[in-house]
Amino acid sequence: MTTIGTPLSPRATKVMLLGSGELGKEVLIALQRLGVETIAVDRYANAPGQQVAHRAHTITMSDAAQLQSLIEREKPDLVVPEIEAIATDMLQALETAGVVRVVPTARATRLTMDREGIRRLAAETLGLPTSPYVFCDSLEALQIAIDSKIGYPCVVKPVMSSSGKGQSKIVLPRDVGAAWDEAMAGGRVSHGRVIVEGFVDFEYEITLLTVRALGAEGQVETHFCDPIGHLQVSGDYVESWQPQPMRAAALQKSREIARAVTDNLGTGADGQPAGLGLFGVELFVKGDEVWFSEVSPRPHDTGMVTLCTQWQNEFELHARAILGLPVNTALKSPGASAVIYGGVDAAGIVFDGVAEALRVPNTDIRLFGKPESFVKRRMGVALAFDADVDVARAQARLAASKVRPRAGGAADD
Ligand SMILES: Nc1ncnc2c1ncn2[C@@H]1O[C@H](COP(=O)(O)OP(=O)(O)OP(=O)(O)O)[C@@H](O)[C@H]1O
Ligand SMILES: [Mg+2]
Repeated sequence: MTTIGTPLSPRATKVMLLGSGELGKEVLIALQRLGVETIAVDRYANAPGQQVAHRAHTITMSDAAQLQSLIEREKPDLVVPEIEAIATDMLQALETAGVVRVVPTARATRLTMDREGIRRLAAETLGLPTSPYVFCDSLEALQIAIDSKIGYPCVVKPVMSSSGKGQSKIVLPRDVGAAWDEAMAGGRVSHGRVIVEGFVDFEYEITLLTVRALGAEGQVETHFCDPIGHLQVSGDYVESWQPQPMRAAALQKSREIARAVTDNLGTGADGQPAGLGLFGVELFVKGDEVWFSEVSPRPHDTGMVTLCTQWQNEFELHARAILGLPVNTALKSPGASAVIYGGVDAAGIVFDGVAEALRVPNTDIRLFGKPESFVKRRMGVALAFDADVDVARAQARLAASKVRPRAGGAADD
């Protein structure tokens, strides 16, 4: 039986989020609602989740010593990684020593920390269909991989990056050098290593939110949300909707792939508890064919649509699952999300047009409260529900377009 204590008391149930962006913020809110004591950690002060947690800490999360000393000081019951760039080896050591439980497991955070661990697991260990790929450590090796195995068009990505950073599609041989340079500039902790993948000419792509939660007898059960369709521009999500209509065979295959990956990632080390929580499984689909692309062992950005489409959104599902509570993945209404970008490089920006956005029928918005805006930084999201997904998409886009971020200063209305 799961027991939850009183926050800020000796019996508190304490959860530490490593990464406190817009996704972490919603997880923190869901945990707060269940009476959990929350600790928000990020690399910069006043990150969105730090604004709603009981306590906030600003550290370099990829620095094992800093992270370990914080965990030992705070003594959380659960550590919940929200980003990839953290000291995962140290987390694994602490988990093995029984100091802390990592969500879903330390092994899953380590394997999904870069593209290599998870791709080799999916394609080579589990035998799942993926794009053809080669890992390369130099421009020469990249050229050889393309010439001998991958061909054109192909996609080059730093092994460690997200939101499409450093990623480019190569159509012609003359683009190879530029793609290599782009990957070297855009990788997070650049190891000078890239993956080159054959371009999959998919019809559409989905995120299949998959939840591992405890059943009544204490067994782990796998639950699937309705598939989320999404549109990516330059490797970054701009719109998502749920449900994405799918042929029965493609949905079936998608679920089999998601189950294989999450079963594996959810397996704890010897004697460790099974991994619980929500995963975002990214898949490419064409007809009845499905390819595994990648997986987040945590809520997914395209899953923000569930803030208006499910009885329990992806953040609530994650919060409940990791606490050992039951979940319900049922759809409430079809709906859509559209990203609100900063549009300016400035700190302390203001948003005009919020009321106009919310006058679009059946819409809602989230403004994340990020202290600093960049032209291409995601600063908020518009949400819309409607029985017709296409109407919801149009309404979400319309609402997003009404919100006008601008550099702070005198108000103009
Ligand atoms: N091999 C491929 N073939 C076709 N399209 C691809 C391929 N790889 C990536 N893409 C496109 O680029 C998008 C981003 O790729 P990927 O998910 O690997 O990058 P990412 O940086 O991890 O993005 P995010 O963090 O937003 O998930 C995919 O959702 C897809 O639209
Ligand atoms: Mg992705």
